[in-house]
Amino acid sequence: MLRVVVVDSPEHAGRLAGDAVAAVVGRVQRPVLGLATGSSPWPVYDELARRVDDSSLSLAQTRAFLLDEYLGLASEDPRSYRAEIEREVVGRTDLPIAAVRGLDGEAADVDAECRAYERSIRDAGGIELQVLGVGTDGHIGFNETGSPLDSRTRPMELAARTRQDNARFFDGDVEQVPTHCLTQGIATILEARELVLLAFGQSKAEAIRQAVEGSVSERWPVTALQRHPNATLLVDRAAASLLEGADSTA
Ligand code: GLP
Repeated sequence: MLRVVVVDSPEHAGRLAGDAVAAVVGRVQRPVLGLATGSSPWPVYDELARRVDDSSLSLAQTRAFLLDEYLGLASEDPRSYRAEIEREVVGRTDLPIAAVRGLDGEAADVDAECRAYERSIRDAGGIELQVLGVGTDGHIGFNETGSPLDSRTRPMELAARTRQDNARFFDGDVEQVPTHCLTQGIATILEARELVLLAFGQSKAEAIRQAVEGSVSERWPVTALQRHPNATLLVDRAAASLLEGADSTA
């Protein structure tokens, strides 16, 4: 079931997502989280840092898998997703760095890396809660338009619009944005037992409309969330503005 919660602010979404993480951490002995990058999850990571700081939450027993990674960036490159999670989460909470597994953007054999990644997730018992953002074109992870709904972790070519959207993390220079990536597949993402997707701002409104009201199709990968038994969209009013009857609030 897809739940839509219209929040007052990104901070509000961060608190609700923080509650969801805390519930998992309280319930499961060795919790496994799926962590996303891009700016939308930042309020969640701010909230986790705040809770760890005031000792109301500990991620010391938690393991984490990243959603995706640019190909060709070293993990030490500050623009790699690995580096972002180390900065935003590991550096500000008690999540052990050794408990974070990301896709290796410099793997010599990318197909072997993707297979090994799927195995690692399975061996960890699967992902309990996956945090997600969404691209303006409806991509999740880096599953661009046309990604099969049964896709698994694999290399992908980035869409021109995604590179343009993400150029802000590369000094505004689209030429610096890698052309390829590794990403968990849509089927991989849907296997997480709970999904929490955050979207803020008018630029996400069409993707959110498709996610909720569109028919499930590869054209808008985010529509796959309709097939998940426990998925929540945390969206601000602007991102919810194209939804019919967009008046449900938390
Ligand atoms: C990238 C990431 C996605 C993310 C998207 C949106 O493409 N691979 O996981 O959802 O950007 O980013 P933002 O949240 O910054 O809008």
